[in-house]
Amino acid sequence: MTSGFVPPVYPYDRLNSLRAEAARLPGGAVDCSIGTPCDPPPAVVVEALASSGTERSYPTSIGSAAYREAAAAWMRRRFGVDADPDSRVAACIGTKEFVASLPGYLNLRRPDRDTVLYPAVSYPSYAMGATLAGCRAVPVAVDADFRLDLSSIQRRDAERALCLWVNSPGNPAGALDDLAAAAAWGRDNGVLVASDECYAEFTFHDRPRSILEHGTEGVLAVHSLSKRSNMAGVRAGFYAGDRELMHYLRECRKHAGCMVPGPVQAAAVAAWSDQEHVDVQQDRYRARLEQLAAIITLATSLGHFGDARSEGDDGDGSSMLPAGAFYLWVGVPGGNVWAAAASLARSAGLIVSPGEFYCEHPDGAGPVDAAGYVRIAAVQPDERLDLARQRLVDPGGE
Ligand SMILES: Cc1ncc(COP(=O)(O)O)c(C=O)c1O
Repeated sequence: MTSGFVPPVYPYDRLNSLRAEAARLPGGAVDCSIGTPCDPPPAVVVEALASSGTERSYPTSIGSAAYREAAAAWMRRRFGVDADPDSRVAACIGTKEFVASLPGYLNLRRPDRDTVLYPAVSYPSYAMGATLAGCRAVPVAVDADFRLDLSSIQRRDAERALCLWVNSPGNPAGALDDLAAAAAWGRDNGVLVASDECYAEFTFHDRPRSILEHGTEGVLAVHSLSKRSNMAGVRAGFYAGDRELMHYLRECRKHAGCMVPGPVQAAAVAAWSDQEHVDVQQDRYRARLEQLAAIITLATSLGHFGDARSEGDDGDGSSMLPAGAFYLWVGVPGGNVWAAAASLARSAGLIVSPGEFYCEHPDGAGPVDAAGYVRIAAVQPDERLDLARQRLVDPGGE
């Protein structure tokens, strides 16, 4: 019997009964709940993974010189940012572990502070990192376009804050934040701004952006190859920014045994050095998002997604398309999200994530009720999405 921390049910496990129902359809479920890539990484990556000869010895925790240089060169190319690979760049094992462990390290360094600020509608690991460190997770409201509303942060929370998380393009809404404003807020308030930029290259109307374009002092950028290069299975990322904090985190993480495996480091060098596969992937996501928007428009008209047309939709689903990342974030007409999720699973075999997964405290989260939304990840191949559409068009058909 314990009165301490009990881990909550992992959000996506709550979809298991819908998955089972969809699995009974011929052809099975079309699972668009978790944002896990389905496309292959480039061949050079797989080749490097198998041929690095680095299996025997321990890899360095900060990443090999080649790893940090490849990451720094990529940032120079994509953002015009110069980050010294020797002092301002270090490896992390994908980024979820970094996101979840950062508050603990920050709190050890600043025991007088105990608060993690994070977007009220966001990836759940920001709040979980605070919880795992025994800290306060304080959501920051978002505006009507799901962008961070910095003006809503209370002074008393800022004074206790270890960091403010930003995520642009954001999961789940795909919104683009003003990173210059976030960096300035952090410096004005003496709070680290940690910018999770794992979707940076998937912007559909704008060039990729990093918070490091606005200086490195008091900020960290966090990057991952999971989404960019379809390498979620091998776990490679990096963090970069404020020199003093980089030194502290690099040392802590070395003591903790955080290491990206050597073969993965070699594969990551190949991935950061190649751009073509990312451009191909971006086109794939754009096409799939359009296909999913058309499916939701069809499902709405057939009564499988709420009780009316999606508000503001111009008829072809284009208003659902995000500015970045690879999710549709759609309000359910009438707001009965779990009923809509069940109906999509039963009719199309399509599994989607209820908005409440990304908004634990809807009160005060912003002017829009995020819990009335669903997130649909464009991570199923075109033919699987077509199967979902076909089931709607021809229920009971072959
Ligand atoms: C916003 C955001 N940050 C971080 C991650 C973690 O990615 P990884 O640990 O694979 O780098 C994800 C994964 O879905 C995400 O959506």
